[in-house]
Amino acid sequence: MPEDPATWTVRNFASLDSTNRYALAAARDGAAAGLVVVAEEQTAGRGRLGRSWIAPPGAALLVSVLLRPALAPDELHLLTAAGSLAMAEAVEAVCGLRPELKWPNDLLVGDRKLAGVLAEADVDGSEVRAVVVGIGLNVEWDHFPAELAEIATSCSVETGGPVSRAAVLDAFLTRASVRFADLDAAFAEYRARLGTLGRAVRVDRASGPLRGIAVDVAPDGTLLVETADQGIVAVTAGDVVHLRPA
Ligand code: BTN
Repeated sequence: MPEDPATWTVRNFASLDSTNRYALAAARDGAAAGLVVVAEEQTAGRGRLGRSWIAPPGAALLVSVLLRPALAPDELHLLTAAGSLAMAEAVEAVCGLRPELKWPNDLLVGDRKLAGVLAEADVDGSEVRAVVVGIGLNVEWDHFPAELAEIATSCSVETGGPVSRAAVLDAFLTRASVRFADLDAAFAEYRARLGTLGRAVRVDRASGPLRGIAVDVAPDGTLLVETADQGIVAVTAGDVVHLRPA
């Protein structure tokens, strides 16, 4: 895993179906850790839980980094935490915004989504061959489609001015070098900055909604929710809605 920003190798594309798909295919073809794939637009961007991820050409930083970590499959949540944190730090350095982190890996400003993170792995049994951490950050996107208007935001909306995707990418790779090199420290800082903790939440899960107070993130990355009727429930996957301010 690169520990020095100079070891990142950036490939830029005008258009790709998905930077995550491209980076995973490159990994299977033998690409080294440190490959960074950036696209101006994606025609089949991938989101969490099988959803699509959309942004107009040039409006978002669409980036995937290829890692070959010495981790077990059940430790891969550490990379999404480290990637989320590194992007939050980059946005803070470049834009002066301090995004809130929402479990498991969203960046929010004012409860609107600024960025999402999707890690995908090439796993063979207990061996992790490669992991791609992909991030979509809304950078210069001023007019959202109706379905996103109430739930999304961008760096340009929040700062009221232009924001350079290249500057955010540089800052992200600098912070990613630090965060991916020390995953325990990254997870501790991610947990400390996680705006979800202490909040009343609703978690929309495949098995149905769950309401309670988000009390912690376990070392395995699950969200621990204290409920009125089931005690503490460990959530492995779902969409969290913050129900009221902390
Ligand atoms: C989410 O659902 O919140 C995660 C979205 C992740 C989107 C990014 S954009 C760059 C990378 N390539 C993809 O196809 N997806 C990720």
